[in-house]
Amino acid sequence: MQGQKSSLIVVSNRLPISIFNKDDHWEIKSSTGGLASALTGVREQIDFTWIGWPGASFLKDQEESIRKELKKKNLVPIFINQEQEEHFYHTFCNSILWPLFHYFTDHITHTCSSWKFYEQVNKLFANEILELAEKNATIWVHDFHLMLLPGLLREKRPDLKIGFFLHIPFPSSEIYRMFPKREALLKGVLGADYIGFHTSDYARHFRLACLRVLGCDSNSEGVTYHGKKVGIGVNPIGMNIKSFDEVLSNPSYSGYIQEIQSRYKDHQVILGVERLDYTKGISLKLQAFEHFLEKNPKLVGKVVLLQIIVPSRHDSIEYQRYRSDIEKAISRLNGKYSKPGFIPVQYIYRNLPLEELIALYCLADVCVIASIRDGMNLVAQEFVYCASKMPVAGALLLSEFAGVSHHLPHAALINPLDIEGLSEDLKKALEMPEMERKNKIDKMAHSVVALDSPLWAKQFLEKLELVAKKNNFRHHNFSLSVGNKEKLLCKAQESSKRIIILDYDGTLREITSLPTKATPTDEILQLLRNLSSLKNTEVHIVSGRDAKTLQAWLGDLPISLSAEHGFKHKSTDADWQKLREFDMSWAPYVNEVLEKMTEEVPGSFLETKECSLCWHYRLADLDYGEWRAKELYTSLIHDLANLPVEIITGKKVIEIRAQGVSKGQYIQHILDKNTQDHFIMCMGDDRTDLEMYSKLPKDAISIHIGECMGKTTFQLESPAKARELLKEIYSALSVEAEASLD
Ligand code: UDP
Ligand code: G6P
Repeated sequence: MQGQKSSLIVVSNRLPISIFNKDDHWEIKSSTGGLASALTGVREQIDFTWIGWPGASFLKDQEESIRKELKKKNLVPIFINQEQEEHFYHTFCNSILWPLFHYFTDHITHTCSSWKFYEQVNKLFANEILELAEKNATIWVHDFHLMLLPGLLREKRPDLKIGFFLHIPFPSSEIYRMFPKREALLKGVLGADYIGFHTSDYARHFRLACLRVLGCDSNSEGVTYHGKKVGIGVNPIGMNIKSFDEVLSNPSYSGYIQEIQSRYKDHQVILGVERLDYTKGISLKLQAFEHFLEKNPKLVGKVVLLQIIVPSRHDSIEYQRYRSDIEKAISRLNGKYSKPGFIPVQYIYRNLPLEELIALYCLADVCVIASIRDGMNLVAQEFVYCASKMPVAGALLLSEFAGVSHHLPHAALINPLDIEGLSEDLKKALEMPEMERKNKIDKMAHSVVALDSPLWAKQFLEKLELVAKKNNFRHHNFSLSVGNKEKLLCKAQESSKRIIILDYDGTLREITSLPTKATPTDEILQLLRNLSSLKNTEVHIVSGRDAKTLQAWLGDLPISLSAEHGFKHKSTDADWQKLREFDMSWAPYVNEVLEKMTEEVPGSFLETKECSLCWHYRLADLDYGEWRAKELYTSLIHDLANLPVEIITGKKVIEIRAQGVSKGQYIQHILDKNTQDHFIMCMGDDRTDLEMYSKLPKDAISIHIGECMGKTTFQLESPAKARELLKEIYSALSVEAEASLD
């Protein structure tokens, strides 16, 4: 038993403090990185339990005392062994996911053999949370290390409100789909109710990856997954303003700043502050500075680059090599441009105390963020905030590839790969008039204050609450609970007659990329055979497919079939019959329009049935397909306004069918007038199935597969769950039949 239950749990790979093993004792230090900085600020205003890794592996008896020590701070450690640290943290997280998500695909040095450790460690986190979470608790999962966690938690605890926030970029789906475990990772994250990103680009990329990789449906609210609407939003993280104010408002602090300023009184200072990471573009910045000195020899001796590098991931050979490359570049540059009493690049390799860091932000004439890719970048915000407190403010040169550039449009945006351009921008920034700098900084400071980290957390948690509430409402009202299932089975057993009405695609059988691929599996055939073998039981398949296909796939079974949304039907051992004749004079025109669309949209295709024409775009490019489908729908509504047709939008299909055809008509056709003690159950998955539900008698049961639509009694996640229920119905009824024989 790990301790008290909690109603708000924050989970990240790293705790705000890291513990280091030192010979016979351990040492505690603040963790580095934006996640730790921002969440530390949140903790000052919102009370939560923080679960994470303390940063090293320990002996069992040490673990217990560390656990006790951390408990006092409401921190809960997850201990991983050295093998897990190596494969989960160093390899899978830092050498695969980190470069992939930052578009550095050439830095991926490993294959996915470490995947099993990623699963293992995510499970370790899940187990701890399951122990600690109160009923209906809120669990907020952070960053790329724990992408499977929401799914693992959801599986075990549907009551939890789960949020996920990604602190790094989510790459374009063109990059993401290169990743061998692409499905599993997305499915894991989609266990959350709400998923937040720093920028609209990352949110869009994630949504498209869900659509392209998993084939999910989506609308402006988010993505539909397992019948649940997962919210996707943009929640830019901010700096921890309070901790900066505490330092800045200390009366003795201005004296300290002046003292540091006096040390640089004869120089202009360009400041760089970065965690050691190849994504930060430190080498590019050095190249640009060298170019700047070369082009402006008169400024040699007058401009200093003050570069702070915070040690990070030092066990990684790649990071060690990167550090060594930077240090060589600095030595070379200093060797070339130093003069007695002057060194052009002043370099600090350590984690600075906040007071020193703030003084440097206040002192700098220019701060340069040259990230090649960066989720957000808090350093830019911190610099802006500090500079805004100074009578003479510095200027910010900000990479357009850092997420924060979306939120600070008044910065001088740079492309760090354009070395000459950056060198010129450095000169412009150093020469920028004081008024202009001040104006820009003040405008940016306004945006920074609005991003403050506790505010960010508050807004994220409010959004999560809202989405989770909606999901819970759906879950409580429509999910087939154990109790409801028992009642359903009882009713089936007690009724004198049973009528089971099933849609095919998306209900009994999973949707496939090509309609012809959705042939019934042995499992489905056996299930239908079993159900139809029950006494006083009718089974009807009511599909939008044509009669020929249904006949070929299901014609040998003793069940009734309805094709083309009720246009044709056949009962067991009888021939196919039409409901009635329909006016099809519009068909040649529609055929022509759809053929043209098919030519223009690669991957789309036309399906011709007796009473309808369907344009499928499931295999077309997603965006292009949706775009042209909207256009087609609008123009058909207009062109066919006075004709006897209906236009129906389905799952990646637009169907134009004769007016008057509907699955509902088939239901009216098969149901007796007196159905009082009948068990009638109807299952469907799309809009055309709502026509069936609306014609059912009051006490019939409708079960919708996927996201709730219209009026339905229950909802199930997937065709697999639908088959599971049908099997349970069969078992209950066949047991009953055996019992009555005895
Ligand atoms: N930082 C620090 N010690 C230092 C320099 C910087 O703790 O010596 C902090 C800085 O204040 C900021 C964080 O490290 O809050 C860096 O966050 P950022 O989002 O810029 O980058 P990340 O490290 O998350 O990639
Ligand atoms: C980035 C990540 C954080 C991570 C930090 C430091 O900011 O988004 O999740 O904690 O880098 O990296 P580390 O590997 O030391 O945790």
